[in-house]
Amino acid sequence: MLSEKVSALLNDQVNKEFYSAYLYLDFSNYFEERGLDGFANWYKIQAQEERDHALLFYQYLHNNNAKVVLGAIAQPDKDLGSDMAVLKAGLEHEVYVTGLINAIYAAAHEDKDFRTMQFLDWFVKEQGEEEVNANDLISKMELFGSDPKGLYMLNSELKGRVYNAPSLTL
Ligand code: FEO
Repeated sequence: MLSEKVSALLNDQVNKEFYSAYLYLDFSNYFEERGLDGFANWYKIQAQEERDHALLFYQYLHNNNAKVVLGAIAQPDKDLGSDMAVLKAGLEHEVYVTGLINAIYAAAHEDKDFRTMQFLDWFVKEQGEEEVNANDLISKMELFGSDPKGLYMLNSELKGRVYNAPSLTL
């Protein structure tokens, strides 16, 4: 049985993960318009992963007989003024999401809700990886992005990213 607080936080996370998907689709949209199809691909796959995250929270709530309420998804509102601004907004967003996951974990811990803590373990690890990925992208852009050939190569590398279903199943 999930507590009201944990259940509400998990429900809110469904919305936050769908927002993340929408945000990354907005990033993909920005790069499509720029003609950088590799970057667009990278963020489109990121959007798919975020949708998967939302569905995992959704399913976890249902598996535990909790009610799910689907709220409105906010319009993406990040500064897309430059390629680097987009990349940095991505990192900033992942750090924010890490804070959300940690807050749910803390609430579950307070409740001695070990099942939810175990469910969230996957997300704690995932957030670590997502922050590394976002940081790597910024580092590579700093190193190679100002040179047209470097940007071309980086774009080609990012075009190779393929979608993988999440390793967590419920
Ligand atoms: Fe669902 Fe990028 O965290």
